[in-house]
Amino acid sequence: MELRIPDHIAIIMDGNGRWARKRGMPRIMGHYRGAEVAEEIAKACADLGVRYLTLFAFSTENWKRPREEVDLLFNLLRDYLKSKREDLKKLGIRIRFIGRRDRIGGDLRSLMEDLERYTSDNSRLTVILAVDYGGRDDIVRAVRRVIDSGARSIDEETFSSFLDLGGVPDPDLLIRTAGEKRISNFILWNLAYTELYFTDLCWPEFSKDELIRAIEDFSRRKRKFGRVLDE
Ligand code: IPE
Ligand code: IPE
Ligand code: MG
Repeated sequence: MELRIPDHIAIIMDGNGRWARKRGMPRIMGHYRGAEVAEEIAKACADLGVRYLTLFAFSTENWKRPREEVDLLFNLLRDYLKSKREDLKKLGIRIRFIGRRDRIGGDLRSLMEDLERYTSDNSRLTVILAVDYGGRDDIVRAVRRVIDSGARSIDEETFSSFLDLGGVPDPDLLIRTAGEKRISNFILWNLAYTELYFTDLCWPEFSKDELIRAIEDFSRRKRKFGRVLDE
């Protein structure tokens, strides 16, 4: 069948902990494997011609996890950002972050901002990492920016531009792994008309083949946006 490649894919990468526990390993091993899979999927998206890939890496609610797991997750992110600079440049991948920055340590924040600058000319694929991201928090921060801008009136388009994904087209396809069927406070505004795809596989088991399966499924969807489709 002919694949219709989504411009923008968003993924809730879930099930790292369960994958590790099933194998008698500590949860963090699932996060390590999960990071490798994220890299593999980013490369696959670049090859397939996807323009934007948004990955949910850490939610505003994930701070409720044990301190040790939170620390290990941020260390993993720090190591990745440090070691992948040149690879990203070679692959033509631009990195952007969405989410709050005020609760992230200064050293990590500079690494994030440095990588955004370093990759800003790359145009093959933009990978957007959602770190300390919550959909409701995003909307509230946008409202604050609207107020600060002094605007007296607002419409959907202007409001969108104040959100973290301002300027990025809405996701065409959302994938969530590990059998969970909820949004968990991910990009609420931008998912209004996104096609949803769920798989029981845990994120560490996800692969390029599974991504293609999801895109095949997406290719069969009839997107109507409220209209009646012509016969
Ligand atoms: C997703 O895997 C990664 C993050 C939320 C950081 P989980 O850590 O949520 O794995 P499960 O859902 O507990 O199996
Ligand atoms: C959503 O997964 C957040 C990320 C993937 C980063 P969670 O595992 O935190 O979501 P819930 O708690 O199952 O809804
Ligand atoms: Mg989970």
